[in-house]
Amino acid sequence: MKLGTCYYPEHWPEHLWPEDARRMAEAGLKQVRIGEFAWSRIEPQPGRLDWVWLDRAIDTLHGAGLEIILGTPTATPPKWLVDRMPDMVAIDDQGRPRGFGSRRHYCFSHRGYRAEAARITRAVAERYGQHPAIVAWQTDNEYGCHDTVLSFSDAARLAFRAWLADRYGTVDALNRAWGNVFWSMEYRSFDEVDLPNLTVTEANPAHWLAFRRFASDEVVAFNRNQVEILRQLSPGRDVVHNYMGFFTEFDHHAVAADLDVVGWDSYPLGFLDSFPFAEADKLAYARQGHPDIAAFHHDLYRGCTPTGRWSVLEQQPGPVNWARHNPAPLPGMVRLWTLEAMAHGAELVSYFRWRQFPQAQEQHHAGLLRPDNEPAPGLAEAAQSALDIAALGPVGEPVKQVALIFAYDADWVTKIQPQGAGLSALWATFACYSALRKLGLNVDIIPPTASLDGYALVVLPCVPIVPDALVAALQSFNGQVVIGPRSGSREPDFAIPGNLPPGPLQALFPAKVVRAESLRPGLTHPGDGWEIARWREDLETSSELELCASDGTPVCWKHGKVRYLAAWPEPGLASEVLSRAARDADLMLQPLPDGLRVRRAGKRIFAFNYSTQTSELPGSLAGKLILGERTLPPAGVTVLEA
Ligand code: GAL
Repeated sequence: MKLGTCYYPEHWPEHLWPEDARRMAEAGLKQVRIGEFAWSRIEPQPGRLDWVWLDRAIDTLHGAGLEIILGTPTATPPKWLVDRMPDMVAIDDQGRPRGFGSRRHYCFSHRGYRAEAARITRAVAERYGQHPAIVAWQTDNEYGCHDTVLSFSDAARLAFRAWLADRYGTVDALNRAWGNVFWSMEYRSFDEVDLPNLTVTEANPAHWLAFRRFASDEVVAFNRNQVEILRQLSPGRDVVHNYMGFFTEFDHHAVAADLDVVGWDSYPLGFLDSFPFAEADKLAYARQGHPDIAAFHHDLYRGCTPTGRWSVLEQQPGPVNWARHNPAPLPGMVRLWTLEAMAHGAELVSYFRWRQFPQAQEQHHAGLLRPDNEPAPGLAEAAQSALDIAALGPVGEPVKQVALIFAYDADWVTKIQPQGAGLSALWATFACYSALRKLGLNVDIIPPTASLDGYALVVLPCVPIVPDALVAALQSFNGQVVIGPRSGSREPDFAIPGNLPPGPLQALFPAKVVRAESLRPGLTHPGDGWEIARWREDLETSSELELCASDGTPVCWKHGKVRYLAAWPEPGLASEVLSRAARDADLMLQPLPDGLRVRRAGKRIFAFNYSTQTSELPGSLAGKLILGERTLPPAGVTVLEA
C-alpha cells in the first residue's frame, strides 16, 4: 500500500511547490492527487486553456519522485460556463435552482453540460494522458456530494420520459407496473409523466423508485463519458472515483463496473457525528470514530469491483469542518486508520489535505501542515505509517468468512417506504456488519450478483428486491444463510409479491410473511440479552421456531441451513442470531472487548484499539508479534503472524 496526499497547487504561490514536493517525499508519501477543482484556472476564459501553471506543478511533483492522480475538474464548472448555460444547474425538490458559489451545481441530465464535461476532460487528457507522472485519473469528485444526484430540472424530466419509454415500451405497461389505477394516477402517454416531487402527498413509490433508478443511470452515463475519453487518450492508467461514506443515492456497483479502482473518502469523526449513532457511542468514540465506520466502507467498496481493487482517496488527518462538532483525533488515530485500511487491502491512503487553506469554505479543515506551513500532528503519524507499512511488507490474502449482501435498490426501497422511522437497508447492513465484527469475524459486503464461493455464512440483512441469480446462487451454496426482515418483500416495480414475502426466497425458506409492523421507541419485546425493537414480522411457516422473546413472540426460524430473522437486526438480536449461524458454519467466534477489532489477512491478524482505554488481545488470538504489543494502548495497532 502506498501513501499520498491531496494537493491544490493552484491555492499556493509557486515558490512553495518544490519545497512541498520535497517534504511529501520525505514523509514517505508516494502519490499526490491534484486538479479536481481547478477548472477556473485551467480554462480562465471560454476556450482559453492555460496549461503553463499545471505543466510546472506536475513537473515539480514528478521531479520529486511523486506519482500523480489527476482529477477531471467537472465538479466545479466555472462561472462563465454557468452564465452561458444557466439551465445546466441542478434543481432541488422544491423547484429551486442550486446556485453558483460552491460546487457540484450541475445537473447530471443536462446534455449541454455533459458535452462541456467531455470537452474539458478531453482537453486535460490530451495534454497529460501520456505524461509519465500520471498513474491514474479520478473522474469528477464525489458524485452526489451535497445531495446532488437527484435534480428536478426540465432536462431531467425529458430524459426521464425517454428512460421510461425505453423501460416499459408502452404507457399501459407503465400504468400496470406502477398500479396507477390507485388514486386515478393513470397516464395516456409518457409525455404526461412528471418528476415525483411537488405532489400533494407522497408520490407513488414505484414512480420514486423509477426516478431513482433513472437518476443513478444518469450518474453512470456521466461517468462513463469521461472514462471512455480517458481510456482512449491515456491508456494503461487506472481510472478511479472517490465514493463517500454512508451514501447510497446512486448504484455504486454500476458506476464501479467502469472503474479500475474504487476510491472512497474516509472521515470517521465527521461520519460518527453526522449519522444516527447512539449518543453514548458518539461520545465514547468522539476522537476515534465508531470502530466499524471505516472498515464497513473498506469492505463495502472492495466488493464493488470484481478485482477488489480499492483505495482511500481522502483520509481525515485532523479535525474536519463540516460536521456539527469537529473534534481532533486521539493521538495515534491517523496511523490506526491508515494501517486498518492496509489490513483491509487498500492500494493507497491519501490524506486530505496537504496544507490547511486559510480562506474559503474549508478553513477549519486540518491538513498535514498548518496554514503557517509548520507540521500539523497528522504529518508525523503519516510518516510513522509509511515506516510501519514498509516494515510490515505484503499484507496477505483476505480471509473469506462471512458475506453480507447489499444492493443499492434495497436502500432506495426502504427509504422510499420506510414504514418505520430510520429503518433503512443500509443501516440494517451496518448493524449486521458491526455484530459480526464484534465476534472477531472477517466480513465482505458484496452485491447480489457476486459469487458466494469460499464463504461459510451468507447474510441478507435486508434485500427487498431479490434477483433470480441470487436465489440460484443461494440454492447451490453449502454454507449457512441468514435472511433478514423485508428481504424478498418487493417485486422490481415495488409491488408486494403475489406469493407474499419473502417472495422468490420461498424457494429456500418455506414461509409467508403475513404481516409486518413497526414499533415506536420503547415498544419492545425483551429477550435474553437482546430485544425485538423497531420492526417485526408475523410468519406462516412450516420451519422450526428457534428463538422467542420472553413473552413468547417468535423472532427467528430455521429450515436446514437457512434462518429467517423476523425482526430488525438490533445489535443484541443481530449478535444472537448471527452467532448461532456462525457456529453452525463452524466459524471460530472470538467476542472482542469494547472498541477492539481484528482483521485476518493471510497468516496475519491485525488488531486495532478504538477505545480510550488499554485493551488486551484475547488469549485465543495467537501468533508471533510483528507489530505492537498484546496490550494495546488507546489507538494502538498490533499485528500477529501465525
Ligand atoms: C470531501 C471532498 C473534499 C473536501 C473534504 C473535506 O467530501 O471530496 O473536496 O471537501 O470532503 O472533508
